[in-house]
Amino acid sequence: MPGLWTKKSLELLREEAAESEHGLRRTLGPLALASLGIGAIVGAGIFVLSGMAAQHTGPALVLSVILSGVGCAFAGLCYAEFASMIPVAGSAYTYSYATIGEFLAWIIGWDLILEYAVGATTVSIGWSGYLVSFLQKTLHIPFPAELSKSPWETVRLADGTSVHSYFNLPAAFIIALITMLLIIGIRESANFNSFIVVVKLGVVVMFIVVGALYVNRAYWHPFLPANQGTFGEFGFTGVLRGAGVIFFAYIGFDAVSTAAQEARNPERDMPIGILGSLGICTLLYIAVVLVLTGLMPFRQLNVPDPLALAIDSTPASWWLSPIVKMGALLGTTAVILVMMLGQTRVFYSMAHDGLLPKAFGHIHARFRTPYKSTALTGVCVALAGGLLPLRIVGELVSIGTLLAFVIVSASVMVMRKAHPEIRRPFRTPLVWVVGPLAMIVCSGQMLGLPADTWIRLFVWMAIGLVIYFSYSRRHSVLQNAEKMEQAGGPTTPVAPVKT
Ligand code: ALA
Repeated sequence: MPGLWTKKSLELLREEAAESEHGLRRTLGPLALASLGIGAIVGAGIFVLSGMAAQHTGPALVLSVILSGVGCAFAGLCYAEFASMIPVAGSAYTYSYATIGEFLAWIIGWDLILEYAVGATTVSIGWSGYLVSFLQKTLHIPFPAELSKSPWETVRLADGTSVHSYFNLPAAFIIALITMLLIIGIRESANFNSFIVVVKLGVVVMFIVVGALYVNRAYWHPFLPANQGTFGEFGFTGVLRGAGVIFFAYIGFDAVSTAAQEARNPERDMPIGILGSLGICTLLYIAVVLVLTGLMPFRQLNVPDPLALAIDSTPASWWLSPIVKMGALLGTTAVILVMMLGQTRVFYSMAHDGLLPKAFGHIHARFRTPYKSTALTGVCVALAGGLLPLRIVGELVSIGTLLAFVIVSASVMVMRKAHPEIRRPFRTPLVWVVGPLAMIVCSGQMLGLPADTWIRLFVWMAIGLVIYFSYSRRHSVLQNAEKMEQAGGPTTPVAPVKT
């Protein structure tokens, strides 16, 4: 169909980059890049979803962690080539607009909402679990059970009775707070990120070292319980489903590839940054889940604060449990900030290109932030955090992000054939091996996720297609410029956004 494959020219992207605040300086070395990755990676995935993933694998969760980490490493190498080809900061949306064309860019941009906005929702629910646990178990301050989970869940009280919850208030609260910070323009500075990284790594290492002293190996047997006759319930398919769930814990390493333009020496430092942060997190995660499943029977870990609960079963509980909870709260706050910021950037780019209404790109006169899209994102994410259960949103983020990785890995190979001439500061090593492997491992994890998650993905993408064909195509700045050119008018696309 005409127009679907309209591409943004690299010259136009360069002009936009020069105008924008992202006229970036090349300051980041390998350590800074790896630290950026770790800051965005370690969060609700390991602190919360690990307990849920173990319900599909038993102690063999460690196999899911390794499988998922390997898939991310392959996909990360493809992501980095894509990122380094395009001379602006941005996300997979921008890269695909310049290389493959508008339609795929829309698909990826729409899909990225699952990674960023729904991702922030998931982490906010994880934050809530640790906050309630910190208030009630550590500080002995009661918190109303009715306001601690989504309306789809019941809460078991200490006396064994259950009450129905109405709304997850802490989840909505943390999103509202971060939305306000983003509107007034507070961003995570490099120093703040380094601080958070040190705290997170410190807490995780403490959990591993102290927890290892109290591991009871009997809990590791049977290591991989036999499949229960249902897909995803233990056995090999359980490991696959566990990988799909724990994949969430790795999301965020793409933050490294989006900083390609700020890397001092992208050729050398990007793979170090991506593989370094992934490698460190994979090793830590392997150790965490081994200790976690060795501290108590895995069936008891299906709670909002599994790491803290596991530590509570040891004599170190009195001092380590509060530290783990505070580390989880601080660490997940930083991840929410990164995800919300990522979402507003993608919305901003899409509005700038005319694919979303102009309001998404409006910049506040005083704060210089995209306040309308930030506020709208904040309201939607806060409501979702208050009303939806963790499993549903967590799996939706995993499937959506895995889809983006599959598309990016395929696109890198397509671009090698279609445009071998484009300069690539970083080239994926062995792309014809790494690319297909990334696609296979990521698709495998998608296949491991349950049918209801697939249906939600299809519904989400169908809504996206309806919006594209009914609104975005007609308002696309580039397509309209092409039409004017054909009609003999001016050819420079005019951005529709007031800045
Ligand atoms: N990987 C990030 C987390 O686990 C998204 O919170």
